[in-house]
Amino acid sequence: MLINNAAIQQNLNFLYLDRPQLIQQELLTNLFAPMALCQGLIPLLAQQQRARIINIGSVLALSPNTDTPVYNASKAGVRNFTRSLRQQLHSTSINVVEVIPPVTRTRLGDTQKRRSGLSPETVAQQIILGLKRNRNPVAIGKARLGICLHRWFPKALDVMIARG
Ligand SMILES: NC(=O)c1ccc[n+]([C@@H]2O[C@H](COP(=O)([O-])OP(=O)(O)OC[C@H]3O[C@@H](n4cnc5c(N)ncnc54)[C@H](OP(=O)(O)O)[C@@H]3O)[C@@H](O)[C@H]2O)c1
Repeated sequence: MLINNAAIQQNLNFLYLDRPQLIQQELLTNLFAPMALCQGLIPLLAQQQRARIINIGSVLALSPNTDTPVYNASKAGVRNFTRSLRQQLHSTSINVVEVIPPVTRTRLGDTQKRRSGLSPETVAQQIILGLKRNRNPVAIGKARLGICLHRWFPKALDVMIARG
């Protein structure tokens, strides 16, 4: 199993942004690395009877917030990449899944914003449950609501994201 979990999230304001390295670092970590790991490991995974690639996405791929534009773009990329990969590997032993966590109390980005989030333990347990049920995407808690809103009431999701 390959789990592409690592990510960074930076508040970047393009009105004042003077270091393109910050953009590069975030895209390399969040988008390029998962692609490169898939590219490198698919030959090995394909030899297994059953294998899985799990890419960790975000609701911000569906409806971006204002503060973290590169993170949002990177997660939109992860989402699209995961869907293509799932199609490409359809006839292999490798199952490709997108996991969309809700706001979770971790060290990611602005930790103040995450104080009201779920605990990492709860989110991990829900992810395992979703994987056992062969869901795709595996969307947890409010992230599941986010996906429904995006499909039927996209403006409502925009409002929800803007409120944090
Ligand atoms: N927390 C949320 O509310 C939330 C919501 C939706 C999606 N997600 C997604 O969930 C995933 C996990 O994030 P998290 O919330 O657990 O954040 P986190 O606590 O900040 O953990 C991120 C992990 O990524 C690793 N990492 C960062 N840059 C790296 C690099 N260049 N090379 C190797 N490892 C690197 C970090 O390693 P070190 O410990 O060594 O720094 C850390 O273990 C991410 O994909 C994130 O986008 C999180």
